[in-house]
Amino acid sequence: MANFKPNLFRSVYIFFELMEIVVVVGKPQVPCYFIFGDSLFDSGNNNELVTTARSNYLPYGTDFPQGVTGRFTNGRTIADIIGELLGFDEYIPTYATVTDQHISRGVNYASGGSGIREETGSHLGGRISLDRQLLNHYSIVSRLFHLQRNITFTRDYLSKCIYIVNIGSNDYINNYFKPDIYATSHMYTTNRYAQRLVQQYSRQLKCLYNLGGRKIAIFGLGLIGCTPAEISTFGTEGRPCVKFINDAVKLFNNKLKPILDDLNAYNPDAKFTFINVTSISLQQGTVLTNVPSCILRSDGQCVQTTLISLVRSMSMFYDGYHPTEVSNIHTARLSYIAISPMDASPYDISHLVQL
Ligand SMILES: *[C@@H]1O[C@H](CO)[C@@H](O)[C@H](O)[C@H]1NC(C)=O
Ligand SMILES: *[C@@H]1O[C@H](CO)[C@@H](O)[C@H](O)[C@H]1NC(C)=O
Repeated sequence: MANFKPNLFRSVYIFFELMEIVVVVGKPQVPCYFIFGDSLFDSGNNNELVTTARSNYLPYGTDFPQGVTGRFTNGRTIADIIGELLGFDEYIPTYATVTDQHISRGVNYASGGSGIREETGSHLGGRISLDRQLLNHYSIVSRLFHLQRNITFTRDYLSKCIYIVNIGSNDYINNYFKPDIYATSHMYTTNRYAQRLVQQYSRQLKCLYNLGGRKIAIFGLGLIGCTPAEISTFGTEGRPCVKFINDAVKLFNNKLKPILDDLNAYNPDAKFTFINVTSISLQQGTVLTNVPSCILRSDGQCVQTTLISLVRSMSMFYDGYHPTEVSNIHTARLSYIAISPMDASPYDISHLVQL
């Protein structure tokens, strides 16, 4: 009995020392980083789902240190690179695999094929819609409250995290512009559809706010009509891109910006930042081609192969829809400039000992 107590204290002490080292090495600018979205940000949440929207096979991951992971590109995603720029020394774990031990640094909920609307992407198979990503976040936040055991602390903690959201592309590609499968284009004009989407999105972002998020970066939609897959499906009538798709997407972006302005006005303690992906990609269009780097399946994803194209260092696209790592680096750097002023004050770890 006499020896028992000192040993216990010693092991507890060592545990805190180790925690201290981990934190000092990492030195992220914010305590945590949560990721929501579709295949542009997915890092493996779909791996165990029955869906064609999966990328856990070669040539995806060719240039990623861990190889094939379920990322829809050759290397790092935009979300990965922003995480590095924020100072995280490890990639944020997927919701599908995360354990209690790691949730306090953040979770990646993004799912390929998913959308703002629940039915979006259903013909591809399983996917986690934005509504269900928010439910998953609710369960993670509940776990955090339970583990940290101090409501004031956890609230404060969640308000310091960075949240990034990139969703809506599939509500066009795998919904509105698949009129044989989905009813939306028969029900709504492009203008009305964009309006419905941003209204729903606004409620979802408000939900993220209600779950404690305060520094939220929202990615607008890119020029979907310029992706190799949409160009080969619809043709361009001599233009560089599919004009009616870009026009529809532009309506969405133009309506999204004022919705975020409203959210900022009504919630002065939060910062919703719009990332203009169109302006970012226009800046690189001159140096990168839009020739895909792999052999495409009919759905625009890479055919399974170990052949690696060297074109990937000069192209904006890896497959029919998803950017190459080279392109992602560019987008992430410019996005980070917009995200970093979100009052990213250094984080005080001292209260974590309550865990
Ligand atoms: C809870 O957290 C707050 C804010 O970090 C802190 O001021 C307070 O002392 C904590 N309460 C307890 C009981 O540890
Ligand atoms: C995004 O940037 C493009 C190109 O600079 C611009 O034409 C467009 O109006 C911007 N979109 C929004 C919603 O601000």
